[in-house]
Amino acid sequence: MSQQIDHLLNEDRRFAPRPEFAENAVAGPGIYDAAKADRLGFWAEQSRELLHWHKPFTNVLDWTSPPFAKWFDDGQLNVAYNCLDRHVEAGNGDRVAIHFEGEPGDSRSITYAELTDEVKRVANVLQSFGVGQGDRVAIYLPMIPEAIASLLAVARLGAAHSVVFGGFSADSLRARIDDAGAKVVITADGGYRKGKPSALKPAVDQALSDRGEGEQATVEKVLVVKRTEQDVEWTEGRDVWWNDVVPDASADHEAEAFDAENPLFILYTSGTTGKPKGILHTSGGYLTQAAFTHRNVFDLHPESDVYWCTADIGWITGHSYVAYGPLANGATQVLYEGTPDFPNPGRWWDVIEKYGVTIFYTAPTAVRSFMKQGREIPQQRDLSSLRLLGSVGEPINPEAWMWFRDVIGGSVSPVVDTWWQTETGAIMISALPGVTETKPGSAQVAMPGISIDVVDEKGEAVGNDAGGLLVVTEPWPSMLRGIWGDPDRFVETYWKMFQDKGYYFAGDGARLDEDGDIWLLGRVDDVMNVSGHRLSTAEIESSLVAHEATAEAAVVGANDETTGQAVVAFVILKESFLKEHSAEGLANTLRTWVGEQIGPIARPRDVYIVGELPKTRSGKIMRRLLRDVAEGREVGDTQTLADTAVMSVISAQVR
Ligand code: WTA
Repeated sequence: MSQQIDHLLNEDRRFAPRPEFAENAVAGPGIYDAAKADRLGFWAEQSRELLHWHKPFTNVLDWTSPPFAKWFDDGQLNVAYNCLDRHVEAGNGDRVAIHFEGEPGDSRSITYAELTDEVKRVANVLQSFGVGQGDRVAIYLPMIPEAIASLLAVARLGAAHSVVFGGFSADSLRARIDDAGAKVVITADGGYRKGKPSALKPAVDQALSDRGEGEQATVEKVLVVKRTEQDVEWTEGRDVWWNDVVPDASADHEAEAFDAENPLFILYTSGTTGKPKGILHTSGGYLTQAAFTHRNVFDLHPESDVYWCTADIGWITGHSYVAYGPLANGATQVLYEGTPDFPNPGRWWDVIEKYGVTIFYTAPTAVRSFMKQGREIPQQRDLSSLRLLGSVGEPINPEAWMWFRDVIGGSVSPVVDTWWQTETGAIMISALPGVTETKPGSAQVAMPGISIDVVDEKGEAVGNDAGGLLVVTEPWPSMLRGIWGDPDRFVETYWKMFQDKGYYFAGDGARLDEDGDIWLLGRVDDVMNVSGHRLSTAEIESSLVAHEATAEAAVVGANDETTGQAVVAFVILKESFLKEHSAEGLANTLRTWVGEQIGPIARPRDVYIVGELPKTRSGKIMRRLLRDVAEGREVGDTQTLADTAVMSVISAQVR
């Protein structure tokens, strides 16, 4: 990390907001100046405007013992009341909160009034299990409305939830339940994936069984939603069917006010190495920034928009932009249970057409897999309702960005590339669609009220047209409040690096272009050093994807006797190209292409044409495993991969 990241790739396409869009946009140009003039005052105003405070706050930020922040800490609110009851009280009870689309094709639309009642019933059931402020509830559910109702019911009681993604194994579930000391688990018999019921309850049973000596299970009750009608094993006295108790529970439940800093949830980050970190978020600051960013970045007009975020509730994006942000803003949204390609590769586009989705938020990995299948599939559907597109999770290569805008967005929908993390809780960097001239591939500018910089390893700003490390220089409302049970690791991981400056270190490389716009370059651990030049994986991957034959690419640095490290690329070709060209010919073409596009220094030593790339369950490429292949080592720990078989296929293809 001793040098700056060299900047090589050029991108000069620009898209100004269309006047029709800008005219009606939620966020106007004045917003940046307002935030700059009085940052804390700006956040206080947003919070008062967007949320209902049972007891108004007078303090905004307490940063007297960094890095432990408190926001709005003398105020009190109820997060669930903010997401539900107040919309009903304001006369919007008949507005649809959730259009649910099950994978088998079942669907239901749930209004704010109905969802409010459901959450009150679930809250009463949980209360009867003894859940209250200070407790933790683990949630292990498919993408069904009951998942959202569960989160909100836990929040309503002032307890904290810990959602575990349904794709995680019994062992991962066990580790997370134990670390959080959960009192109750909410799960389902199963969910639907690729046309088949897949079981969830057995993993819970396994996670709660076989305690070693002295090991105490904290879980007292397991609440089980019936979704697939699969047979399940039953532990009498512990297990309770949701469908037996929730419908009969009372729909009267008073939302009590809790302190702004009351814990709202723990979410474990599945880092590529080491024990998962339980990222802790609290109530008032988190909800303020989730609601603010959701409204302004997605230009939400709650009366008319139909919003769809494809993220699973098990990830932070599902927390902030499926559950809390949209509901706090009274949005109507689509919730889809299954995979993008079942029963046909155009299922997502069918969903957009069916519900008239206007705002669509997804991940680059999804966009690239649609690119691979070809534009014919989305073009067979009517996607004209879309007016805004968003991307999150990885750098989106300029070509994927352009494809998204043109093919899905009909060449008119702005694309906002949003950078943030589980730790930041909400969007930190993004264009504002009615204000910012967008640039394909760049996440662009810090949100109003957020202070971001790119620095060298001493914490000095690198300035425009240079690369370095991304930092957040001032505390922000939805920042993580710690790592559950491990304050030292919290300090060590995020704050030690720039301790004297008080900067938060995000772990990502970034560069500022001549205009000061931010380009994310991937995790710092993935940066390569070729003949003394620091190269980012993201830029070379973007160059590869810019070639018409490429659908997706991953680049790693492999040890090399002459250059220190050499660039090694793993490339997935578009299906149409694979039919007509030899893989070997294309590999050479791509090497030359990168050399011409970026410069000879970036030309890959090897280009391997592969069928798949190793990805985590949330779709991030695991370059560490590809590095093992590129250096001819045995492939390391593949536990966090979505598909553990993929590495043997890749190794075979490379050999
Ligand atoms: C990466 C997801 C480039 C980044 C919300 C970050 C991105 C990590 C972007 C956090 C983006 C997320 N451009 N990279 N727009 N968004 N990342 O915790 O490396 O699952 O540090 O949160 O994803 O991933 P997490």
